[in-house]
Amino acid sequence: MTYQELLEKAKENIGTYCKACPVCNGIACRNQIPGPGAKGTGDTAARNYAKWQEIRVNMDTLCEQKTPDTSLELFGRTFRYPFFAGPVGAVSQHYSDKYDDLSYNDIMLKACRDNGIAAFTGDGINPDVVRQAAQALAQVDGQGIPTIKPWNMETIREKMTLCKDAGCFALAMDVDAAGLPFLKNMTPPAGSKSVEQLKEIVQMAEVPFIVKGIMTVKGALKAKEAGAAAIVVSNHGGRVLDQCPATAEVLTEIADALQGSDMKILVDGGIRSGTDIFKALAMGADGVLICRPFVTALYGGGAEGVGLYIEKLAGELRDTMEMCGAGTLREITKDMVRVC
Ligand SMILES: Cc1cc2nc3c(=O)[nH]c(=O)nc-3n(C[C@H](O)[C@H](O)[C@H](O)COP(=O)(O)O)c2cc1C
Repeated sequence: MTYQELLEKAKENIGTYCKACPVCNGIACRNQIPGPGAKGTGDTAARNYAKWQEIRVNMDTLCEQKTPDTSLELFGRTFRYPFFAGPVGAVSQHYSDKYDDLSYNDIMLKACRDNGIAAFTGDGINPDVVRQAAQALAQVDGQGIPTIKPWNMETIREKMTLCKDAGCFALAMDVDAAGLPFLKNMTPPAGSKSVEQLKEIVQMAEVPFIVKGIMTVKGALKAKEAGAAAIVVSNHGGRVLDQCPATAEVLTEIADALQGSDMKILVDGGIRSGTDIFKALAMGADGVLICRPFVTALYGGGAEGVGLYIEKLAGELRDTMEMCGAGTLREITKDMVRVC
């Protein structure tokens, strides 16, 4: 299967909202929710993509020839590449009922593990989603990161216990899901968390805890104060608040503010190629999440499609590393990119 064939197949399976575009740039689906679009005017997802394109890579082939080492160490595990499949919830609502969250997570976790990376799993109102993700996690030796929504403490504790019992190596929370209408209407109330509450959640996790949905230096420092092991610089692909800056616009200042700390920095939003991954690493990220194109890959080719997409990204990353003179991920430095 080629990537073109994968896209053609995805068009047949993915429903009417997502157009399985050759480049997933947030334009065709714009403000389509339900669907993979963004909130309000819907331009935040498009901005995420566009801002990575304004960063260019500095070619320099006058260096020792080496085979690039793309491996990433994170929380005691070694991954073949510095990218992860991002969490998606309610796939049958936003795409098509060819898959539901249970079958989607099952296939995605296994396909990512088999190809040397890990998938984040999403969460939703249906309690079976996390329960089933936990079962699937146990089958991949805990190689996945459940992402739990900022529910009330009791629900968080219940969901975390299921995931820890399954052996997950890290846990995440999309704190920005406070902007999702269904969470706001919960009783008891779910949503924003204070630093004190976040500290309690971090302790509850007992495994490295990742705060997803950080867009400011202030937010990053609060996550650090709470004891988080990592953050994901993310605006949830524009789905929780309209008119956010792009993640590429805030990554450098957040990375600068965290310099010298042990906290890991991940980033997502509009990262679509191995070259974009290289740019994110040059600007201070340790790794990236990619969400929507992984959905397209799975709807277009199941586990094989996910594997194909992973190898496509890996090839592009290796090529960029070779052409810019970086032999390892640590050797990818800020001077290797130009912000135009
Ligand atoms: C349909 C859909 C569902 C999502 N569900 C979740 C979720 O359950 N949990 C979460 O943390 N993020 C969720 N996200 C956000 C993504 O994980 C990611 O942060 C965002 O899409 C930006 O990455 P991308 O531009 O690569 O898609 C969802 C995104 C989409 C499009």
